[in-house]
Amino acid sequence: MTTLSETVCQITGADSVELGKEIQSLWSGYGVIQCAELRTSDDQGHRRTVPVVVKHIDISSARTNPRGWGSETSHQRKVRSYQVEKTFYECFSRQCNQLCLVPDFIAAHEKPDEGGWVIVLADLNALGFDRRKSEVDQRDIQTCLAWLANFHATFMGEKATGLWPVGTYWHLETRPDELAAMPAGPLRQSAEQIDHRLSGATFQTLVHGDAKVANFCFSDDDRDRVSAVDFQYVGRGCGMKDVAYFISSCLSEQAASRQQDALLNFYFQQLQIAVTARAPGVNFSDLEGEWRELYPFAWADFCRFLSGWSPGHWKLNAYSDQITQSVLDQLRRK
Ligand SMILES: Nc1ncnc2c1ncn2[C@@H]1O[C@H](COP(=O)(O)OP(=O)(O)O)[C@@H](O)[C@H]1O
Ligand SMILES: [Mg+2]
Repeated sequence: MTTLSETVCQITGADSVELGKEIQSLWSGYGVIQCAELRTSDDQGHRRTVPVVVKHIDISSARTNPRGWGSETSHQRKVRSYQVEKTFYECFSRQCNQLCLVPDFIAAHEKPDEGGWVIVLADLNALGFDRRKSEVDQRDIQTCLAWLANFHATFMGEKATGLWPVGTYWHLETRPDELAAMPAGPLRQSAEQIDHRLSGATFQTLVHGDAKVANFCFSDDDRDRVSAVDFQYVGRGCGMKDVAYFISSCLSEQAASRQQDALLNFYFQQLQIAVTARAPGVNFSDLEGEWRELYPFAWADFCRFLSGWSPGHWKLNAYSDQITQSVLDQLRRK
């Protein structure tokens, strides 16, 4: 059997690799994300060391025993998510510039029969993006919103071949179990309509799909930039899905309610600058008009998932209820 070190050497062309500290274990212990050093030497014999992060999942041994894995749907969603992440880094990540930084892609590999994945990326810690935050201040929030605006502008109109046809980890079609677990009522009845409004938007881009604070890497030296990681749920979508979910990941209900307009204004200001630079053919006022209308739909769509997945979740609060209600009222009036 090939070891992880051998695979990493094969796919990166390194002479040797030293596997280092584990950052996190993945998928019920079937994988890890860990630091490593690639060692290479050039034609003149100069040795070079490259700090990397290896995201590695191997489910080939576990596949014969699907019990205790959750449902088949959830298993398939996970398998697809690693294929999508690999495709994103291989085929799309190079389009991200300094304003929506992502780790440089080095190499990746998929085992036969969807048995596992190895993704080798530049180590962001070595580039100064070594801060992870659970509490963020206004400046951090703006930096992340600017990242989102630049990412959305970069991929405006993207077909997303090889990624999720509809991005986010809570997309309705991939969450039948959670829909079935939802309490009966108007949100459940309107789940499809809400999804259709979002998927039917004229302006589609790539959404990160899991843009919570924990998936941003911050730098103390460069507070105006962040790098995002974790592209398992990247796919086509309206940018408001990332914005609503990001806000829900870092603000209390009172703060989200109080700051909503200011944060949306900031995001759209950044989006305008980014679209002018990266998608100049796009009519920005049409884009802004459409997406502002869809902000509550994106929030209600996420609440639909939460109320099936974790009914008492703290994010299902008065602010969420009020937004969801406004969406349901709009749909009823139609
Ligand atoms: N290229 C990288 N450089 C440095 N740290 C990274 C890198 N990629 C991931 N990480 C760290 O590892 C954590 C887990 O990686 P992630 O891809 O988000 O895995 P998961 O899908 O399990 O959340 C991230 O939150 C981040 O802190
Ligand atoms: Mg993550």
